Amino acid sequence: MDLPIRPRRNRRTAGIRALVRETTLTAGDLIYPLFVHEKDVDEAIESMPGCTRWSLAGLVKEAGEAHALGIPAVVLFPAIADEFKTSGAEECFNPDGLVPRAIKALKEAHPSLLVITDVALDPYNADGHDGLVDRNEVGDLEIVNDETVAVLCEQALSHAQAGADLVAPSDMMDGRVGAIRSYLDESGFMDVSIMSYTAKFASAYYGPFRGALESAPKEGDKKTYQMDPANAREALRELILDEDEGADIVMVKPAGPYLDVISMLREATTLPIAAYQVSGEYLMLKSASAAGWLDEEKVVMESLLGIKRAGADMILTYFAKDVAGRM
Ligand code: PBG
Repeated sequence: MDLPIRPRRNRRTAGIRALVRETTLTAGDLIYPLFVHEKDVDEAIESMPGCTRWSLAGLVKEAGEAHALGIPAVVLFPAIADEFKTSGAEECFNPDGLVPRAIKALKEAHPSLLVITDVALDPYNADGHDGLVDRNEVGDLEIVNDETVAVLCEQALSHAQAGADLVAPSDMMDGRVGAIRSYLDESGFMDVSIMSYTAKFASAYYGPFRGALESAPKEGDKKTYQMDPANAREALRELILDEDEGADIVMVKPAGPYLDVISMLREATTLPIAAYQVSGEYLMLKSASAAGWLDEEKVVMESLLGIKRAGADMILTYFAKDVAGRM
């Protein structure tokens, strides 16, 4: 054929492919989500094979191993015992609670490891919702916004006081980024960053995670605060608000089914973008690989590269340590 342009020339050898590669993934792009509980034994999580609810000692060890592989940050998710769950979720700002103790233990053992905390009420809320629950005149469940934001501010402050480097509000209440920013600043924590769950969708892919923390809503769903999976433009609206309110990093969650949203935000903001490969995405790859249907190492790498290619600067993934270990 008379073909002056042959794209395959740029794919001929591993060397040329390395030179023309547009997207790379390094351990430095990864954030490792870790579950912690009060018990002093590490416990396998049935709903998320390969993941563990760590004791404080186990958490410190696992985070240290991940950090030694080049992972800069962990994000903490606490499994709170039923006796501490209340309808006011007060345990979430207990300065001696599980998360503040975990932050202190991690920062003491690994000062250069960034500790990110989840700011939302669901693990502490007897109702299992991210916000406080009320009933309206006709008895329907209502997640009250402004009262919740006040509690989230206390929660974020307790994490900052314990030494958290970043707080990550995942609750989707309106105005919480600005409120947390002012509250932290007034309290002298202007160096604590906010990684905002900017476009967090009401997703069925969170199912295994709620199993891991026993944090599923007791009644109703999260559709009055998490975004409708059908919407992308609405993510731009959330982005504008989070930028104005002072977010340092904006997040899209889940990641894989929402690559268009990541790419849209990439075009629209100069802020760094995080994407969360959530528990359901993890399990799809994990279970298909365990059955021998997919090659785990390869599909995991491909899924993460796809998320970066779409425009994410960093990825929260349960595969973080495995992937970093293979680099
Ligand atoms: C709760 C929270 C959830 C996840 C992270 N923070 C669950 C939810 O919103 O119901 C999900 C993470 C995952 O599925 O891996 N604030």
